[in-house]
Amino acid sequence: MSSDVIPVAGPSITDLEVAYAADAARNAWFENHAMYNTRFETLFAETVGVKHAVSLPHCTAAIHLALAARGIGPGDEVIVPDVTWIASVAPVDYVGATPVFVDILEDTWCLDPAQVEAAITEKTKAIIGVDLYGSVVDWPALRALADRHGLFLLEDSAEALGSRLNGRPAGSHGDVGVFSFHGSKTVVTGEGGMLVTSDADILARVLKLRDHGRPPGDRFFLNDEVGFKYKMSALQAAVGLAQMERFDTLIAEKRRIFRQYADRLSDVAGLRLNAEPAGVTNSYWMVTIVPDAAFGLDKFAIMAALKEKGIDSRPFFSRLSTLPPYAKRRDSLRHLPAETVGDAMAARGVNLPSGYHMSEDRIDRVCAEVRRIFA
Ligand SMILES: Cc1ncc(COP(=O)(O)O)c(C=O)c1O
Repeated sequence: MSSDVIPVAGPSITDLEVAYAADAARNAWFENHAMYNTRFETLFAETVGVKHAVSLPHCTAAIHLALAARGIGPGDEVIVPDVTWIASVAPVDYVGATPVFVDILEDTWCLDPAQVEAAITEKTKAIIGVDLYGSVVDWPALRALADRHGLFLLEDSAEALGSRLNGRPAGSHGDVGVFSFHGSKTVVTGEGGMLVTSDADILARVLKLRDHGRPPGDRFFLNDEVGFKYKMSALQAAVGLAQMERFDTLIAEKRRIFRQYADRLSDVAGLRLNAEPAGVTNSYWMVTIVPDAAFGLDKFAIMAALKEKGIDSRPFFSRLSTLPPYAKRRDSLRHLPAETVGDAMAARGVNLPSGYHMSEDRIDRVCAEVRRIFA
């Protein structure tokens, strides 16, 4: 990509991240191997308002571990949103359970609680709600359903670090919350993830399962079950710690970027941007537009028009139920109507450049082009 192309995402890296990473490379070995992981986990748990945080190689591992720790497996059903990144749902297959897709809401792009309720059967064991693009699920509604039916609530906050609902941080609403530190995310470690929970039993299962089934404190390689190997390296944790020490600045930047886009685009008729309903603070991982069907442009046409002007963008996630891994699985699809709310976003939604490199000048340039496309 030439240097005048505006990338769609990009991290904020300062001397602090570089210094911690260098220190980890020199010192975080053997008896000190966990020094950065422990500090990163402690600060992260405090920030999200939960008791425990476990650093992992990626968020996909966190979702896998959460389901495995709760003992979800063959014969069980897990309710999931139809529109999300596949990583939210793929781990349901890893444990041999069945994902059941449910439609999303028009404003928040998150699970529709009424549809969730209608999809619950005696086989349902868990709900995975996804705080999409920084938006937040209606967690009080899902909590009420979970309590009534004895279900496990997994909050996929991979894209919503720094968002809040009714004052409570995203990731703290489920029995387990999960986050991603992929290079495109609000806080990065290159690749990386975090599982958070305040449930001591879940924590104990997660710590054992993520370390090949070793009992706590085992030094003699006496594994007592088959588990997984899901650990974050000290080098990644060092970068993550530095990022979390700059957390308030990073979230303020994401909100600044969205505000500057909204100032320039909110008067374009027929163009919808990310929502921030009452009670929600959105950390706007990705500034997203969803144009009316009347423009006659699908997401790929919009992306191509932006690309011609040197602006990179991303398509809104697809409806997973339409993709080959799921499209023929009747058990997973049985709750979706012929036409879904998610169709509009999946067909026409586009994520605009939202990384920390988005100066006001660059936002001006992108918005001028967006206005031209939808004039
Ligand atoms: C909603 C959502 N869930 C899960 C993931 C998985 O994260 P990771 O790539 O760290 O495994 C991502 C990140 O791409 C995501 O956006």
